[in-house]
Amino acid sequence: MRAPPHLPFMDRPAAFTIGLKPLALSAWLVPDWEAAALPEKAGLLDRRRDEVYAALPGGAEAEEEAAALVAKAACGPPCACLAEAARLVSDDLVLMELRDGAWTATAAALCSPTYFSVAEALGSSLAVLHGPVPAGEGFADRIARVFSMIRADEPLERFNWTVQPTDERFTPSSAPLKLMAVSCPVDDALDRMHLRVERQTIRRLPKAGAVLFTIRVSLDPFRAVFSQTGAREAFARAWTEAPQALRFYKGWPSYERLVRAALDLSEDGC
Ligand code: HEM
Repeated sequence: MRAPPHLPFMDRPAAFTIGLKPLALSAWLVPDWEAAALPEKAGLLDRRRDEVYAALPGGAEAEEEAAALVAKAACGPPCACLAEAARLVSDDLVLMELRDGAWTATAAALCSPTYFSVAEALGSSLAVLHGPVPAGEGFADRIARVFSMIRADEPLERFNWTVQPTDERFTPSSAPLKLMAVSCPVDDALDRMHLRVERQTIRRLPKAGAVLFTIRVSLDPFRAVFSQTGAREAFARAWTEAPQALRFYKGWPSYERLVRAALDLSEDGC
């Protein structure tokens, strides 16, 4: 069992924050610590392409520029669209362009979506995409300002996290996961429950001026998470102290029973 690559709850409480930090260009998409997911991703792109990739008309040049940047970072062959570039890295790729004054998703390859889909995202502005997030007035405007100001040579990085009762990456909806969580037994909660961390980056495309949004998902069982020094206690604190609005938004009440069982089991030293 590997050590989870990120434990975002260790140093800060669960909260809706922008939390973007500068990232060295050389660390943008490599190393790819989720490369083991690439065969599954290729399978989705082969067999369910229309579900996991789409592009609006009018964005081909920006998409080609984005695909070329990804291919270069991954030392892969040249490619012209996000569906091809998406085979080279575990990250999901979303092209954001300024259309009618709003940053809008104009192309997307989503093989590990955290409960949304290409069909929902394509053509949506930052305001629409973040409509369900109870992060307060003006949240999407603040994100949009970052998109307008970001520099081409300085990508930014942030992390989100949640939990889920499987190791599935391709999860366009959380409904089946919540359903499963209410009925499954708790005795294997330490292996069933997973920490789902999203490492997101944004990078300006120098020529088109568009922005490429990348999302890399890491999934690790609680057993691996709690075996890291201090992680069980930090997780328990973050879980317990998370604001109600965030808990409901993330669907955490559905997972309460399994999370508590996992915490109890790990306390018993299982
Ligand atoms: C880098 C700038 C961005 C920031 C700071 C940001 C921030 C957030 C935050 C705080 C959430 C709530 C979920 C959580 O905390 O786990 C969220 C949800 C979400 N974001 Fe973003 N986001 C950014 C860019 C984008 C972009 C470019 C897209 C385009 C696809 C996007 C799509 C979504 C979606 C689909 C959700 C889930 C909304 C729902 O529950 O239906 N975000 N974002």
